[in-house]
Amino acid sequence: MSLNPEVIIDLAALKHNASLVAQAAPYSKRLAVIKADAYGHGMLAVAQALSMVDGFAVARLDEAIMLRKAGIKKVVLVLSGFMSQEQVDQFARYDLDAVVHSEYQVGLLSSSHLSTPVSVWLKINTGMNRLGVDPSSVTRVYQALQLSGKVRLPMKLMTHLSCADDMASVSTEQQINCFDHCISCLSGEQSIANSAGLLGWKNAQRHWVRPGIMLYGGSPFHGAKASDEGLQAVMTFKSQVISLKTIKKGSFVGYGATWQAERTRLIATIGVGYGDGYPRHASVGTPVLVAGQKATLVGRVSMDSISVDVSQCHNIQIGDEVVLWGVGLPIEEVAEKSNTISYDLMCGITSRVTRVIKEVDDGEQN
Ligand SMILES: Cc1ncc(COP(=O)(O)O)c(C=O)c1O
Repeated sequence: MSLNPEVIIDLAALKHNASLVAQAAPYSKRLAVIKADAYGHGMLAVAQALSMVDGFAVARLDEAIMLRKAGIKKVVLVLSGFMSQEQVDQFARYDLDAVVHSEYQVGLLSSSHLSTPVSVWLKINTGMNRLGVDPSSVTRVYQALQLSGKVRLPMKLMTHLSCADDMASVSTEQQINCFDHCISCLSGEQSIANSAGLLGWKNAQRHWVRPGIMLYGGSPFHGAKASDEGLQAVMTFKSQVISLKTIKKGSFVGYGATWQAERTRLIATIGVGYGDGYPRHASVGTPVLVAGQKATLVGRVSMDSISVDVSQCHNIQIGDEVVLWGVGLPIEEVAEKSNTISYDLMCGITSRVTRVIKEVDDGEQN
């Protein structure tokens, strides 16, 4: 491995996870969510590897244009839609699908001078209260879009679930019922499910599913392990031991001297820190794999290094490989100890970390 921290992106694992989406939702078309640089995995590499999906979803117009410029021909849906006339024009020019979630956007579209209509996914607010047209306005907005002459018909109908990761929550059924009620008199393909929705709530599997985290091998369910669903980690974040020190009972480690050794300890300094995307708030006890052996974080996370108690490990050497998360160490375990979620950790890898793409070696062409 290189001397600097690196993330290994395993495209075979990505494809494996995509095949699980197909197994779980066999009757739905698949829109792979690859916003935020494919959750930190590299948007273009991921898009090119996912030959089996029917389209892609990104958050912003720039991301969508990047996909088109890279030669991606499939459906590309922009989840935030457009916010100006210039952007409306770009949707037509690059043949992008737009989420329309507000009457403001309907106004922009209606007053545009498009010569080609745009594909629209009308988003309904069924309880998330983030983006989406209120249930009471859906029919009126749908008709306004139909009459505008600027929309390719039939448009699609979608919503987003706020609590699908919690199988005990009553919100998901309520949101699905609300969606069904809103669209009962409207025609168009439907889309409700994110990863948790498609795995946990069969009734959310409509014409299109929109998996994100499960493609990357993260568990969509609160407190669950991704391997329980058969998912494989796509990202492995690695570094190495850069120093080893035996410290005496009573010695402190790291900034603020917040951790004190209760007895003699062997401390490995690992070359990774919050400047690379390792979580600054990872707490003492966060697991780290050093030369394949489980050890724990001690002291505060620094910008370029962390300290790990390797006293229980065997034969640790300077230069040994360290896995921060990924194969052998589920990202959820690190996220939980850092008071965050796997999505945040994946997206947080910084630009100074080398990204190594591990290609599928079965000769398959994408
Ligand atoms: C509208 C929408 N659909 C689907 C997804 C994918 O969600 P997940 O990564 O939980 O599968 C997201 C992600 O935030 C989203 O915003």
